[in-house]
Amino acid sequence: MKTGKGQLHEIYLDSGAWIICPPELIPAPGQYLLAHAGGSDSPLVVPVFFSDSAPNGFRSAPLLKSAWLPGTRLNLRGPIGHGFSISASARKVALIAFDDSPARLRGLISSALKQEAEIVLVCNSVADELPEAIEVQPLQAMVDIFHWADYAAMDVRRENLHQLMEMLGKQEHVRARSEAQVLVRAPMPCGALAECGVCALTLRHKWKMICKDGPVFDIEELL
Ligand code: FES
Repeated sequence: MKTGKGQLHEIYLDSGAWIICPPELIPAPGQYLLAHAGGSDSPLVVPVFFSDSAPNGFRSAPLLKSAWLPGTRLNLRGPIGHGFSISASARKVALIAFDDSPARLRGLISSALKQEAEIVLVCNSVADELPEAIEVQPLQAMVDIFHWADYAAMDVRRENLHQLMEMLGKQEHVRARSEAQVLVRAPMPCGALAECGVCALTLRHKWKMICKDGPVFDIEELL
């Protein structure tokens, strides 16, 4: 993990941002940086997820921090956590944004296209600027698409994880199918630095810290 300086260069309509930063700080899809505005008296740091490539940095997923403006200088720490790892043999890829925009999944599109995979994006929000080859389906189609895919990447808020897993069906059916990974979102104020526990994820027989054990988990770990 590294620290360094960055700058918010532009804010997009979806509240994502073009962040200028050194290449070694650019997170992989599913990973994040912790960002703090230089000179700000707020103690809070903001998790910033990769969404797409951009010159001299990257395009982030939508930011919650509306006080940041183009030109804001950022102190950055990262990349942090486990990201997605799309299997090289995947030819049918499902990207499932369960309760938010698909921005944090978009970074997988270029890798999937490179390996000539079919890609279906499942979400209920508007997804613009997508390559033509990508099919978009509403969430009602999620279970069918999940079972069609040989690799599925999902994005869900911690509070909705249980609901997502229930909708996917019985554990043995989920296990029997091919690879799937889930990005679980929760507030991550310290990024494992202070072990604050705010990001704890309670599973059936154990608990995990989303900030460092995740935020992307193999679906097996969540069953
Ligand atoms: S964010 Fe503090 S322990 Fe995970």
